[in-house]
Amino acid sequence: MLAATAVSQSASDPLSGLMLGDVPKPEVRPGWSLVRVLASSLNMHDVWTLRGVGHPADQLPRILGCDAAGYDEDGNAVVVYPIIASADRGRGDETIDPQRALLSERHDGAFAEWLTVPTRNLVPKPEGLSFDEAACLPVAWGTAYRMLFTQAAIKAGDRVLVQGAGGGVASAAIKLALAAGAVVYATSRSETKRKLAESWGARTVESGGRLPEKVDVVVETVGEATWSHSLKCLRPGGTLVVAGATSGYNPPADLGRVFYQQQRILGSTGCTRTEFVDLLRMMTSTGARPVVDRTMPLADIHQGFQLMIDGDLTGKVVVNPPKETA
Ligand SMILES: NC(=O)c1ccc[n+]([C@@H]2O[C@H](COP(=O)([O-])OP(=O)(O)OC[C@H]3O[C@@H](n4cnc5c(N)ncnc54)[C@H](OP(=O)(O)O)[C@@H]3O)[C@@H](O)[C@H]2O)c1
Repeated sequence: MLAATAVSQSASDPLSGLMLGDVPKPEVRPGWSLVRVLASSLNMHDVWTLRGVGHPADQLPRILGCDAAGYDEDGNAVVVYPIIASADRGRGDETIDPQRALLSERHDGAFAEWLTVPTRNLVPKPEGLSFDEAACLPVAWGTAYRMLFTQAAIKAGDRVLVQGAGGGVASAAIKLALAAGAVVYATSRSETKRKLAESWGARTVESGGRLPEKVDVVVETVGEATWSHSLKCLRPGGTLVVAGATSGYNPPADLGRVFYQQQRILGSTGCTRTEFVDLLRMMTSTGARPVVDRTMPLADIHQGFQLMIDGDLTGKVVVNPPKETA
């Protein structure tokens, strides 16, 4: 089957380590299911793996891809919950399981025609979502859902700032916060992306720009480039939720502001399976849909990642494996 596999790592040329080619179809172990992948989507996580950040070299070669939607062996339309937790985890919080692994970390991922995952990771795909739309949700939208509703516990009328409107997680956070009745501000370096966020209902300023009021919650995935601005925009006692650091991991601490203004800084990673099911229900009830920048054949995946590395995307890139062998 065709697959995109990480075979080596390079901080300066991450895509040199991504090999597209034929690999054996995976074998299914007890308690796991085979999924015929119809759609997957790109995440910065794949780029970090190729750069050698957070992914040990002894885990290579590894088929990348954290997001998948397709059919299980019984012909059911499914979307894959992406965290593989300990078998005895039961209904606990998978995101704090020390043994957890995101799909593609310790098990082959979704950039392939076929995928195997624990059967408990299969979730019915809502009928109103296409396979391409569903494949955008597990990592980016699941992460945004937990940041907003579990960590920051936003409520209707809250003022929420989302940094970097064009990002996969950021665009999800904007749409989910709007759907929940929040007043949403968004920043972007790009006027085109700001205009798009405005068309969804957000109020926008350029990156680092002044907001007309302080906000209750900041959603931060950009990191170093926007951190100080995020803290400046947050009201005393407000909450900053951080789940990523695309522009760098070492922002100024601004400790004086944090303790004097009694700001709360919360880390967040992924979502639980329960939160993922809640997210799917919310997509159905509100009509919220992912922002798909483009779809492309799996064979063109290098081009999709180059756009992501260059910051030229708005929302998600979906890749489709070849159809003829389905
Ligand atoms: N903790 C978790 O579970 C989890 C889950 C998913 C993602 N993440 C992390 O979250 C981050 C975002 O992931 P993603 O998939 O949403 O990535 P993405 O789609 O590539 O989005 C990154 C966004 O960050 C903004 N940005 C990048 N460099 C910037 C800079 N120098 N200055 C200002 N803005 C900048 C851009 O927004 P504009 O172009 O609009 O300015 C860009 O669209 C990544 O670091 C990823 O690893 C973490």
